[in-house]
Amino acid sequence: MTYKKHYSVLNKEVVDILSENCEQLENINFADMTFGAGGHTFALATEVNKCRVYSVDQDPDALKNGLKNIEELNLKEYVFLNDMNFEEFPEFIKDKHPDLKFNGIIADLGVSSHHFDEGERGFSFRFDAPLDMRMDSDNDEVETAAYIINNYSKEDLENIFFRYGEEKFTHRIVKSILEKREIAPIETTKQLEQLIIDCYPKKLQFGKTNPATKCFQALRIKVNKELDVLERVIPGLINLLDENGRLAIITFHSLEDRIVKNLFKDALQGDIPYELYNKKPIVPSHGELEENPRSRSAKLRVICKIKEKKSKNKYAQFSKIGENR
Ligand SMILES: C[S@@+](CC[C@H](N)C(=O)[O-])C[C@H]1O[C@@H](n2cnc3c(N)ncnc32)[C@H](O)[C@@H]1O
Repeated sequence: MTYKKHYSVLNKEVVDILSENCEQLENINFADMTFGAGGHTFALATEVNKCRVYSVDQDPDALKNGLKNIEELNLKEYVFLNDMNFEEFPEFIKDKHPDLKFNGIIADLGVSSHHFDEGERGFSFRFDAPLDMRMDSDNDEVETAAYIINNYSKEDLENIFFRYGEEKFTHRIVKSILEKREIAPIETTKQLEQLIIDCYPKKLQFGKTNPATKCFQALRIKVNKELDVLERVIPGLINLLDENGRLAIITFHSLEDRIVKNLFKDALQGDIPYELYNKKPIVPSHGELEENPRSRSAKLRVICKIKEKKSKNKYAQFSKIGENR
């Protein structure tokens, strides 16, 4: 297996924002919740002098490739890569390094290009493969997309496609799934793609966007419980910030972005002082979009732990980095 190339979204902005307050510090600790191809981790580890980066991923391919690269880049003393779901990270730190606080934490959500471009993982309808879609592909306890399609009730399937995919033709698609699976299980990406296309009106079947896009996204979110783990982990990550520390989260669709926005807002209401780095999310520059069209839906939000609450002008630092796109 060769790990497929992944373009690190908003990489410069993330490094600049997380390292901005670190110049005078002796011990700098960062965490990367979504190691992937290691783009953010390696940029932090190489651009911020003598920092340590605690990184995690749940994908066996990302971990294998990452450990090899850490060795080759001679970063074993600075980058610590762990196999876990990021929702376990706050507890892991509490257990193993109870005094450790972070100057910066990054979470670059969702799947990596590897997932879409490595056909056999079953994330993409571009390749014919078993409908899998587990990021943690070694974990037999995680239900695959095929299991969900062939076993979930009508109501549960409708809920998944409506809620996570905002799919207009949900009723038709679910009806067709129920009919087809009575005859034989739906097991491959291409079978599901064709079933969905057939449920679309003829004139919408060959538009710019493949009709299966939304349902595939919805299934992936369900298989990996992406929104549930995000909702559970954010308060724990905010708690791990050192004074002046920053938590940066990159989202790729409105469901994720809403969770981040609301949980950051909740943190501002508590007793511990935090402020938002940016009122509006930072988005990729035109240059980045040209280089990597896949970043077009990315939004970066950042929350900062501060010394004391400022009564006014809580967006004081707004617009330093990543503005004026
Ligand atoms: C968008 S990619 C990150 C790319 C990375 N920032 C880079 O620059 O190469 C997301 C990565 O996070 C991992 N991931 C997503 N959700 C996770 C979770 N809940 N726990 C652990 N890893 C997760 C995926 O397996 C994938 O490798």
